[in-house]
Amino acid sequence: MTELRIYATRDTGVETAPEPLLSTSNAVQISAELKMRGIKFQRWPSKPELEQQARQERILEAYASLIASVQKHEGYQTVDVMRVGSDQPNTSSLRQTFLQEHQHQEDEVRFFVEGCGLFSLHIKDEVLQVICEANDWITIPAGTRHWFDMGANPNYCVIRFFKNSGGWVASFTDDPIANHYPGLPCAREQTTQG
Ligand SMILES: [Fe+2]
Repeated sequence: MTELRIYATRDTGVETAPEPLLSTSNAVQISAELKMRGIKFQRWPSKPELEQQARQERILEAYASLIASVQKHEGYQTVDVMRVGSDQPNTSSLRQTFLQEHQHQEDEVRFFVEGCGLFSLHIKDEVLQVICEANDWITIPAGTRHWFDMGANPNYCVIRFFKNSGGWVASFTDDPIANHYPGLPCAREQTTQG
């Protein structure tokens, strides 16, 4: 289930695990809390006719009307499908790279077709952790400090939206903040892989 946890940022010298100020799995509340902070989040209807491990063309076809609506209203010209699985050779280094706080000149816009991932957004004096699962659409505006955990056994598929895919390059902040907040829960990975 999709989940939002909101933490206050704190002195990173503190050794105890942070306690969330808010934790919710209510999609309406998640959307409202994120909207207040400039983050767009929606749950899209599921597509039961779309088989697991579907090819890119099938996925883009199944979500064509929603994709067209996003492109029309948000101006994203390019759309593709990215699948990451633990059978790929570089997932461990890929995970470590995006676990470091970074930002992009381009919005990071993702729709989860399968699997899950944890976005952590560092906005002002808060860290917002969003565990995204299938049917979640999220837009992280350009310049937002964030990190992403695909889990120890990555298994997810997303539709990506770009205004200029060349702008989606990670610029690392060198802030070790990500080390002080939880990662994607292992149990979550296991329940969503089947
Ligand atoms: Fe990113």
